Amino acid sequence: MPEINQDTLFSFTKCMTHSIPYAKSYPKPHSTANLSAHSTANFSAPIPMSNIQSLIGNTPLVKIKNVIRKPGVQVFAKLEGQNPGGSVKDRAAYGMIKGALERGEIGPGVRLVEATSGNTGIALAMIARIFGLDITLIMPDNSTAERVQTMEAYGAEVLLTPAARTIEYSRELAEEMVANGGFLMLNQFANPDNWGAHFDSTGPEIWRDTAGKVTHFVSSMGTTGTIMGVSRFLKMQNPAVQIVGVQPTEGSSIPGIRRWSPEFLPKIYEPERVDRIIDVSTEEALETMRRMAREDAVFGGVSSGGAMAAAARLAEELEEGLIVTIVCDRGDRYLSSGVFG
Ligand SMILES: Cc1ncc(COP(=O)(O)O)c(C=O)c1O
Repeated sequence: MPEINQDTLFSFTKCMTHSIPYAKSYPKPHSTANLSAHSTANFSAPIPMSNIQSLIGNTPLVKIKNVIRKPGVQVFAKLEGQNPGGSVKDRAAYGMIKGALERGEIGPGVRLVEATSGNTGIALAMIARIFGLDITLIMPDNSTAERVQTMEAYGAEVLLTPAARTIEYSRELAEEMVANGGFLMLNQFANPDNWGAHFDSTGPEIWRDTAGKVTHFVSSMGTTGTIMGVSRFLKMQNPAVQIVGVQPTEGSSIPGIRRWSPEFLPKIYEPERVDRIIDVSTEEALETMRRMAREDAVFGGVSSGGAMAAAARLAEELEEGLIVTIVCDRGDRYLSSGVFG
């Protein structure tokens, strides 16, 4: 059992109360300045951080000025690529590993195992390193070299399975390892600590940084952890806030998100927490992703392009509002696949 000390633990909730998110001791919001007309880079501001986990969250909101222009409607992108592991998944990975440690689920000699080729794998590898845990990540052998190498750089063991057998086979192998003993699978699709991390951090940050003015939240849906946690929190503050999920159109493929058929919906998904779902094609997601970088200097991944495309459609329908959309990760995670041309 790894030692947990003050330096290792960082609680999302330490500065939060539900009625007044993030009490006085919490760092000054990054994005208040963005809500006014101009903000300038401030190179002299102190950064009161002492360890990697304390850098998770508190990501900035950036105003979208060009890709979406609709009088009366403001659109802000929450840049999750600013997390130390490079994606929104740092929050869930931290929440799930910390939760398992606190419940004593990771006993001596137990290794973590997960089947994931994406941001979750990288985030879990980073958080496992922080806590001194061993982790095995299993993924199809067509996973991009940058992803595999990033996980290995954090000291994870990576097992590659034949691509023809898809991620389902990687998952079966992980389950087999758990059944044989000595491994723990966090199972982000069914783990309440996944959405809990967003309830404790992403939601309160959005409420705080928009000064409670957010009217719509738009998020791509993979495990649905982000949208489930943020929906819970924002609806508690103001039940009128509209929660909009984004999924690929039938036949489209967008890395990190899925068009779930009812029988395979993640266990943590509760349909009543999403007011509306918008379908986005791969082409629309890619085109919007490229425009975000070229026109607003927001360099996000494909699913972020999808969410922004959905936000654009929504903005067109509104007379007024403040939309927050999630930019899950950075575009450089996709460069080798040629999507930026
Ligand atoms: C690129 C990308 N976009 C969107 C998501 C969706 O986030 P969530 O799993 O919280 O629904 C993920 C999740 O891994 C992702 O990797």
